[in-house]
Amino acid sequence: MNYLQINRANTLNGNIKISGAKNAALPLIAMTILAKNRVDIKNLPHVVDIKTLLKLLSNLGASCSDFSNGSDIISISTSALHETKATYDIVRTMRASILVLGPILARFGHCEVSLPGGCAIGQRPVDLHLKALEQMGAVINIEAGYIHATAPDGLKGCQIIFDKITVTGTANIVMAAALAKGITTITNAAREPEVVQLCEILNASGVKIDGISTGVLTIHGTDGKLVDIAEFSVIPDRIEAGTYLCAGAITNSELTLENANHKHLGAVIAKLEEMGNKISFTDTTITIHPSKVQKHVKIVTQEYPGFPTDMQAQFLALTTQADGTSIIEERLFENRFMHVSELQRMGADISLSGHTATIVGGTKLSGTDVMATDLRASSALVLAGLIADGVTNVHRIYHLDRGYDSLEVKLQNVGADIKRLNE
Ligand code: UD1
Repeated sequence: MNYLQINRANTLNGNIKISGAKNAALPLIAMTILAKNRVDIKNLPHVVDIKTLLKLLSNLGASCSDFSNGSDIISISTSALHETKATYDIVRTMRASILVLGPILARFGHCEVSLPGGCAIGQRPVDLHLKALEQMGAVINIEAGYIHATAPDGLKGCQIIFDKITVTGTANIVMAAALAKGITTITNAAREPEVVQLCEILNASGVKIDGISTGVLTIHGTDGKLVDIAEFSVIPDRIEAGTYLCAGAITNSELTLENANHKHLGAVIAKLEEMGNKISFTDTTITIHPSKVQKHVKIVTQEYPGFPTDMQAQFLALTTQADGTSIIEERLFENRFMHVSELQRMGADISLSGHTATIVGGTKLSGTDVMATDLRASSALVLAGLIADGVTNVHRIYHLDRGYDSLEVKLQNVGADIKRLNE
C-alpha cells in the first residue's frame, strides 16, 4: 500500500494547476447515459473515483476512450449500453455510483443499484433520491441489498420538495426529469456549482431548465427522447483549490492557483481573509498572499453558497496554527471529525463535543505516522505534515487518490518535501 512521507516544508512558492472537479465530473459522466451521440468531455481529473465510474459505465456496455494515457479528455458513447445493474463490487467503493440510477431508469424503465451502505463520514442514506423517483412514478423495492426500480409507464414530471438539500440527489432527479414526460419542479434543490454545470449542459442540449443556480429547478422533460450533448469542459475543482489555498496559509507561502474559479470559492476565500490573508484573483487564477499570523475563526459548514463541509478538515488543520481558539461546527455529516484524533496524535489541542470542534491554536505539531480516514481528512493530515517538525507518514492514501489529482507532484512542484512510498 502507498503512503505519503512529508518533511517539514520551508515556505512553498510557485503555481499550481487545478484539475477538473471530481464532483462535477461524476454526474456529467452519468449524464452521458441520456445522450444519443458520443460525448467528448475535457478537463477530467485523473482520480480513482472517475476511473471507477468509467469502469461502471463500461460494465454496463458503454464505450469509453482510453483515459489512462495522461490526457484529460475522454469520449463516451452509451449507445450500446444494455446492462442496467450497478453491482455491489463497484458501488461499495464509491457511493456516487448511485448517480446512474436516475438516468438509467429514465432511459430504460428499469434499473438495479446496490445499496451504497454506510461510509466513514456517516450514514449517508439515499432515501431522498428514492422518494423523489417514486413521486415520478417509479416503483421501488429494496431486496437483498439492491434497489430495484422500475417505471413501467415511464417517469412523469411532478412537484418534488426535498426535505433536505442533497447534492447527488438533486443531480439524480434532474437527470431522471430530463427524459421524463412533462415538467418536474424540484424545490430545495442543491445550488452547488457542480449541479449548476449539469443543469447548464442539459439546458444547452435541449432539456429546458429554469431556475438554474437557484433552489427551485423546473425541468421540461423530453418524454424519452435522448439528447445531443456538445463537447464541454469540466469546471475547476473548488475543493482542490481551497485545499492549496490552505497550504499557502499554513506554510505562510504565496501560491498562485491556475485554472481556478474564485467565484465558486466565496465562503472559503472570505474565511481566509477573515484569518488575515489577502487573496487576489483574475478570471482563471487565485493568489494567496498569506498573513504571518492566522487569526482564530468560527466556521459552520453549510450547503452552497455556505462554507463547504468538504473544506472543514483542511481548515481544522489550519486553525491549529491560529492565534487563539477557533470553533468549527459540522452541520452536514454526523461523523466527519475522524481527522481530529490523528491531528491530536501530532500534538494538536482539539476538543470535540457533538458536532463542534474547539481548536486551541498555536500548538507545535510533530511528525508521526497517521492514518487517513476519508478523502478530505487525508488532505488535512498532509497540510499538518507540511508544518510538523520531523517526518509525517500519511497512511491509507487510497482515500486521497479518490479525489486529488497528483497531489504530491503538485506540492513537490512548489517546493514541498513530499514523496509517495510503498509500505
Ligand atoms: C456530495 C459530495 C460530497 C459533499 C456533500 C455535501 C459528490 C459526489 N459528493 O455528497 O463531496 O461532502 O455533497 O456537500 O458530489 N441525505 C439524506 N438522504 C438522502 C441524501 C442525503 O438524508 O437521500 C443527507 C446526508 O446524509 C447528508 C445531507 O443530506 O447529511 C447532504 O448529503 P448530500 O448532499 O446528498 O451529499 P452527497 O450528494 O452524498
